[in-house]
Amino acid sequence: MATILDDISRTFSEYLLIPRLTRRGQRPDLVDLSTPISAVEKNEIPRFKINVPVVSACMQSVSGPRLAIALARQGGLSFIFCSQPIETQVEMVRQVKAHKAGFVQSDSNAMASTTLREVIELMKRTGHSTVPVTADGTATGKLEGIITDKDFWEFEDDLDHTVGQHMTPIDNVIYGTEGISLREANQLLHRHKKECLPILSQDGRLTALVFKKDYEDHRRNPRELLDDSKRLCVGAAINTHDYEKRVPALVAAGADVFCFDSSDGFNEYQADGIRWIRELYGKDVTVGGGNIVSAEGFDFLVKEAGADFIKVGIGGGSICITREQKGIGRGQASALLEVVRRRDEYQSETGRYIPICSDGGLANDTQITVALAMGADFVMMGRYFAMTEESPTPKTSINGQIYKPYWGEGTRRAQNWQRYSDDMGTRDLVFEEGVDAYVPLVGPVSEVLDTTLYKLRSTMVNVGADSLAEFREQSVLTLVSEQSVVEGGTSNVFQFKANREIEDTGWGNRN
Ligand code: IMP
Repeated sequence: MATILDDISRTFSEYLLIPRLTRRGQRPDLVDLSTPISAVEKNEIPRFKINVPVVSACMQSVSGPRLAIALARQGGLSFIFCSQPIETQVEMVRQVKAHKAGFVQSDSNAMASTTLREVIELMKRTGHSTVPVTADGTATGKLEGIITDKDFWEFEDDLDHTVGQHMTPIDNVIYGTEGISLREANQLLHRHKKECLPILSQDGRLTALVFKKDYEDHRRNPRELLDDSKRLCVGAAINTHDYEKRVPALVAAGADVFCFDSSDGFNEYQADGIRWIRELYGKDVTVGGGNIVSAEGFDFLVKEAGADFIKVGIGGGSICITREQKGIGRGQASALLEVVRRRDEYQSETGRYIPICSDGGLANDTQITVALAMGADFVMMGRYFAMTEESPTPKTSINGQIYKPYWGEGTRRAQNWQRYSDDMGTRDLVFEEGVDAYVPLVGPVSEVLDTTLYKLRSTMVNVGADSLAEFREQSVLTLVSEQSVVEGGTSNVFQFKANREIEDTGWGNRN
């Protein structure tokens, strides 16, 4: 007869944290959110840490190079999806590693013959007030001048005038030459009291722009995730079908961390893959395994295969229909608690600490906090990042509201047969395990994440924790009844619901 577990499968929204003593001097801005991603040997420091406990999902509609850059700048990490040819994934990793913090490609450009009317329209559309003027109007054309919104008066000047009549011509433009360091570029901006410095190649072509506001941004936010050569860090997803080719190519491109991307990682194919990486690279490569939802899954991938970190979660993702389609999965809170318990036992037995990632189904900021309190070292999210400005999908207007497409890796659209057919060897999705949907646009990663992390820090202070490790150890949680969930909302007052949703969650609430 099948074994029936006594426990009910539970989700994060069924738990609340009980406040504990906050000590004098504890403040949200003093809380340390850094967390290990690689296995930590007894009395050693982690080989790889991230500065904030969030990573973006291995998904086509989530983790492209633009998001990876934006997230690493905030201290987190993206896993570039592997449901694409090795060459294109390598190219995406290269783009992140080649990104020179502070040097950006100009995406609003004009020609001297462009009219003021057209350039005003461009400035309004892109929100940029500085526009390089190049011979061919491209981001890499020969620079002829710069026009800013201070060079004309929209309601006084003739808008049929050309940009050439109002711009600062190249002879009067302060610029840097390709090869200049960011520090030197910022010194030039400072010395000449400029907001923007164009960087030119030897033959006068525009290669990048450096902005004063980016410098200020960096000073305010020094938590960027950088490697030893000061390049941004990036993760890469891999599968059990072509890792022997994919991993070496991604290692050569500079990928910092790897993660097997599988809807059910409790299988021998994945263990073979992890062992293969270990044999070839030893501990030089950090590789995570999953997804699993049980202690026996943990034992298999850690004890038998040697995974660095473990990803927990089956069936909870916002676009996921695995539970309906196949009848497998587990409530995310129950899965996480069981795996964390086993991780802690394993640490007591061996001294090794294995970071755990809670993957999927986080519907709001509170649930991120609860997952970390329950023992996750970091969380992986798809929907959260799909809603940001930097996700790789185009903005779409529906009934006057801006949305972004978001689809599961188990849809026909993603064609990620590798994730869903580890054991069957079939190259076709016989049925779908995900849906193709839309999510509202909520803003840039930096803004959305700032709010989320501020709330997290603030709860950690309520629990008297200065670090995520203390948060895990000190947290006391209670199960809530349906009645207390009702009580937790507002009561007996009138509110405009739409306004409240936007204010409260910052990124939309699925509950
Ligand atoms: P979300 O943060 O709730 O949107 O969940 C994202 C997670 O869902 C990913 O990290 C994957 O683990 C999982 N996932 C991605 N695509 C699919 C799918 O098509 N079906 C089921 N799960 C998926």
